[in-house]
Amino acid sequence: MIITIDGPAGSGKSTVARLLAERLHIRFLDTGAMYRAIALAVVNAATDENDHSAVAQVACGVTISFDHDRLLLNRLDITSEIRSPEVTAISSIVASNPAVRERLVELQRDIGKCGSMVTEGRDQGTVVFPDAEHKFFVTANLEARARRRQRELSYEGIDQPLPVVMDQLRRRDERDETREHAPMRPAENAVVVDTSDFTIAQVVEMLMSRIQSRSS
Ligand code: DC
Repeated sequence: MIITIDGPAGSGKSTVARLLAERLHIRFLDTGAMYRAIALAVVNAATDENDHSAVAQVACGVTISFDHDRLLLNRLDITSEIRSPEVTAISSIVASNPAVRERLVELQRDIGKCGSMVTEGRDQGTVVFPDAEHKFFVTANLEARARRRQRELSYEGIDQPLPVVMDQLRRRDERDETREHAPMRPAENAVVVDTSDFTIAQVVEMLMSRIQSRSS
């Protein structure tokens, strides 16, 4: 069984997807982390993130793998490093590169062959797993998403004013929604869930009951 959860940054989809996978005892796949891994490789190689062919070369020369909940780039643990503001900012630029997408989509489909999973990202229901059994698009209004992101950053010791976080999210959304290849949008048969006024626990319950009602 494949369950896809797509949606914009700060919508809560990662936490929801992780908790849902735990409840169902199946694998959780964070595909955003894979784009972030390529972004980190681009930073490490001092490559211009807007140079499509140079970025494609970097993407083809690295190995990305998972060791339980750790993400490895060329076998080195980069789980924390990929959350830096620098990597976050260029990840959506790198994600607009078709060669990068092709490589990661293939990897994601290979992982999907290994068994049931909850996979989250921007294109999981539309492009990567169009035949998924359950598809969700989890979203929230910009301010709610920015407040969550601001809280996450502050846990990491980074304090940023709300308007700055809102602006960063707005720019990332725009790039993710308007790119030519696999733009972020709900799949036609996805259930759209607005989390602005709900807790994470409530959203997980909503998704669980939807899955259970459709499976019985
Ligand atoms: O979900 P995230 O913030 O970790 O994602 C990082 C970037 O990767 C984000 O700007 C969009 C992009 N992304 C994508 O294009 N397709 C995916 N399936 C997942 C993420």
